[in-house]
Amino acid sequence: MTTQRRVVAITGAGGALGAAVSHQIASEPTTDLFLSDVSSPSLEATVAGLPPTEGSVETALADVSDFSQVESVITQAVERFGRLDVLISNAGVLSPNGRIHNLDTEDWERAFRINVLGAVNGIRAAVAVMRPQGSGSIVLTASVAGLTAWSHSAPYCATKAAVIHLAKVAAIEYARDGIRVNCVCPGTFRSAIHADLPPDALDDVAKRHPLGLGSATDLVGAYSYLASDASRWSTGSAIVVDGGYSAP
Ligand SMILES: NC(=O)c1ccc[n+]([C@@H]2O[C@H](COP(=O)([O-])OP(=O)(O)OC[C@H]3O[C@@H](n4cnc5c(N)ncnc54)[C@H](O)[C@@H]3O)[C@@H](O)[C@H]2O)c1
Repeated sequence: MTTQRRVVAITGAGGALGAAVSHQIASEPTTDLFLSDVSSPSLEATVAGLPPTEGSVETALADVSDFSQVESVITQAVERFGRLDVLISNAGVLSPNGRIHNLDTEDWERAFRINVLGAVNGIRAAVAVMRPQGSGSIVLTASVAGLTAWSHSAPYCATKAAVIHLAKVAAIEYARDGIRVNCVCPGTFRSAIHADLPPDALDDVAKRHPLGLGSATDLVGAYSYLASDASRWSTGSAIVVDGGYSAP
């Protein structure tokens, strides 16, 4: 990590967690932000909600499942700010509510394209810049769904398990280049990702969280830690922030 200005890129910055993490990182000193999302209104809402910051904030629309778009985001960030210190690859989607035999190929492909390939694309684009720098921190958003089995959510669970393992493999591949790769495994917090679920779907889920459902702001500390020098000896880790969900 560098002692000069820090440049942080965040994908999926328009969502609940992306907005909360963007808000947190923007409030930290000597930081410039490059925010992206596939949704323009969501991204604009995140920017409108940022605190006053002495750093600069730039945005771009990009679909993480398309490598050329992710590469363009990273290129724009480097052209604007001169380097890339942190990538927070946060964009993700829930799969439709259904048992395995009721989900079709498109359901599986969409989950893998956005949740897994999106993270792979972020790593590929970021390491192209971070390896010559000899430093960088990449933070992937996984889920406790990648650690525990959820019925009716097989594509989501499988893709989040893949993200956790992707972080571990990337960690050992890029440690020699001074690049750390970790992931955060959130428990459930309310966001637009649950929009297609029945209204009471989260009630039972809430009961399985000893501290109750979280909010996106409950998670920002983990991202702040992984984006900072405080985590300089952490790589390949999956930090669980889940209100006790996975404790039993
Ligand atoms: N909400 C939860 O309970 C929960 C729990 C564990 C993990 N997560 C993970 O947290 C991350 C953020 O989710 P959230 O709950 O804030 O949901 P959200 O729907 O509020 O945010 C997701 C964001 O990702 C963006 N996005 C979707 N597809 C994209 C694509 N192809 N390219 C670029 N951006 C895209 C959306 O526009 C949205 O702004 C996801 O990776 C999700 O899997 C969420």
